[in-house]
Amino acid sequence: MRLPGYVMAELIVAGALTAGGGAGVVYGVRHVRATLAAHSVAATAASSGPLPARDDLSNLPDLRVGLESSGTFLGMSDELLLARVRTQPIVRFKLNHGGSSISFRVEFADGSRAAWKPTQTNSQTVPRKEIAAYRLNRLLGLNAVPPAAPRAVSRDELFSHLHPDSLESLPRIKAETIFGSNGETLGTASYWIPVIKDSGFDKPDGQKQVQAWLSQGEPLPEQASMARQVSDLIVFDFLTSNPDRYSGGNMKMSPDGTQLFYMDNTMSFFVDPEGPAKNREVLLRTQRFSRGLYEALDRVTAPTLERALAQEAGAPYEILTPAEIAGVVGRRLVVHQYIDSLIAQFGARNVLVFP
Ligand SMILES: Nc1ncnc2c1ncn2[C@@H]1O[C@H](COP(=O)(O)OP(=O)(O)O)[C@@H](O)[C@H]1O
Ligand SMILES: [Mg+2]
Repeated sequence: MRLPGYVMAELIVAGALTAGGGAGVVYGVRHVRATLAAHSVAATAASSGPLPARDDLSNLPDLRVGLESSGTFLGMSDELLLARVRTQPIVRFKLNHGGSSISFRVEFADGSRAAWKPTQTNSQTVPRKEIAAYRLNRLLGLNAVPPAAPRAVSRDELFSHLHPDSLESLPRIKAETIFGSNGETLGTASYWIPVIKDSGFDKPDGQKQVQAWLSQGEPLPEQASMARQVSDLIVFDFLTSNPDRYSGGNMKMSPDGTQLFYMDNTMSFFVDPEGPAKNREVLLRTQRFSRGLYEALDRVTAPTLERALAQEAGAPYEILTPAEIAGVVGRRLVVHQYIDSLIAQFGARNVLVFP
């Protein structure tokens, strides 16, 4: 019996995934995907054990680039922006409205700004995770998460510098902000992007557009750079297990529409090996990826991630726990295997269409 090429390709993928157990059975796309989902559990379980020999890639040139913190964000050096958000005196805290978290726009003495979130009762907003997202974005060679660093603020500092418009929210701020015994709340401050607009990719029309850009058999997108950035975001959100991307206000772009920003990464880095269903669903309907990001996935090991996080020297909290790091590494294996299965089916030229 002669099987069509795509069936053969799926057989190979399914066979590889089930380590021989699936040989001889004709798998459909759905079955391969279900196998991938199931496989992710095993991948993560494996990741919690000792890592394979390629655990420290820091002597490779591409990794050195990935670990450097000397990137730039909107034309300014990360180090400059980080130094500011860590140390500039805060002269004003203005509560951001609309979201479910306690989040402020702060103004510094030098006139620059930051987004700042304190430790809070809302367990879905965990400020340290914004720093993890920024560092992981750099490790992957991405440039979409505003530079973020720890920033402790005392009760006095916060309440004596509240913007007049935020005074009506004082009871809520007091009730939900968590201060330590030293009277400080350990928060995270991120560079404030001066002008941003909604990308629309979290709305039905935008999602339809993304689906066309990132599906096999559709014409190659004319807006290749933006299509690549959305594809990168889908991989990033799967790695970080962030289901909050589509809740509104978290997919913004530059006013000229050329750069996508990954906003609000504080509800993420869950230890669940497969990540939330939403992220799996979005990943599994994405069929076009960036070759650079695919290759950069190899950098995501526990030691390299630990090193990337340690670049924030002297952080007052553990930025990610070992279990959260293992979760990222496990999900990295799942993404890698998923893209490999697409390559087996459609060819690298058709899957890794972006640089
Ligand atoms: N770094 C930033 N630069 C510019 N605007 C920001 C930044 N961080 C947050 N914002 C604005 O504040 C809004 C709420 O912030 P976000 O981090 O999404 O908090 P929430 O948890 O309340 O959704 C965002 O939708 C965005 O408009
Ligand atoms: Mg938000």
